[in-house]
Amino acid sequence: MKAVLLAGGIGSRLYPLTLSVSKQLLPVYDKPMVYYPLSVLIMSGIREILIISTREDIGSYKRLLGDGGRYGIKLEYKVQEHPKGLADAFILGEDFIGENPVCLILGDNIFYGMDFSEKLDLVVKRTTLENKATIFGYTVNNPQRYGVIELDSDGYGISLEEKPINPRSNEAVVGLYFYPNSVIEVAKTITPSERGELEITSVNDYYLNTGELVVEKLGPGFTWLDTGTPESLLEAGQFIETIEKRQGVKVGCLEELAFQKGYISKNRMLDQAAEMKDTSYGEYLIRKYS
Ligand code: DAU
Repeated sequence: MKAVLLAGGIGSRLYPLTLSVSKQLLPVYDKPMVYYPLSVLIMSGIREILIISTREDIGSYKRLLGDGGRYGIKLEYKVQEHPKGLADAFILGEDFIGENPVCLILGDNIFYGMDFSEKLDLVVKRTTLENKATIFGYTVNNPQRYGVIELDSDGYGISLEEKPINPRSNEAVVGLYFYPNSVIEVAKTITPSERGELEITSVNDYYLNTGELVVEKLGPGFTWLDTGTPESLLEAGQFIETIEKRQGVKVGCLEELAFQKGYISKNRMLDQAAEMKDTSYGEYLIRKYS
């Protein structure tokens, strides 16, 4: 399986913060925002990842993450000239994806919770073996801001809507999606929405209608954060700070996850940590693993 990480868009809800800096590079406590979704992909065992961003910003991602070798993964980059919508990722990524199933993750979504790694393993296997798409539902109190899925009493999807004024449920669809290879063709057939975007909700609606959509619930013990406004960005940073200080862990620590997955050696991890030894990030790895 391959993955596409979307880190473009204009981030206008965060102006002036994002007038000259890509939104997904803004700090969330002690790391750039993009570390968090990238850590989810490393956890999923996906090692070939395409990062999409704007022409202005793509160079910053290359400087930050390079070819991925630091984390034992392979990163490629692609420019999106205009923010045409999330489903554009599959059209831009067609050559990169090739004949593989693909995961899409949004560069501004943060996930944290127990047993997530096991859940991801299962979904990756199912997507590869069964040719089904998987999306994740998470109960929120402001569903109007998201894609919304209505579920029946057995947890099967009934309807999907993008940012409905009167949502049929409180189940938001999070920014992490798994698809069979057919998603490339599906993305080419959908038409832009009223706001002129190729909506991911239209792609999901296709799989819902063909009976090939699985909806996984992320339960109340799980945390899903988005970072679209100054308040939610600050809250996300405070959440990560609280977890890290209280539990003595690091969330989204790419070197640690790569080491745990067996992608890089302990020595390599520690050498990379030594480059950051004066930070809490580097110090954490050195203290825990030397
Ligand atoms: O966060 C989850 C939500 O993400 C879903 O519930 C919605 O169904 C989905 O449409 C999306 O809604 P947003 O309004 O949050 O999407 P936004 O336009 O903010 O884009 C999400 C990320 O993708 C953001 O980091 C910018 C990036 N992006 C967006 C567009 C439209 C791109 O890289 N290229 C694009 O063309």
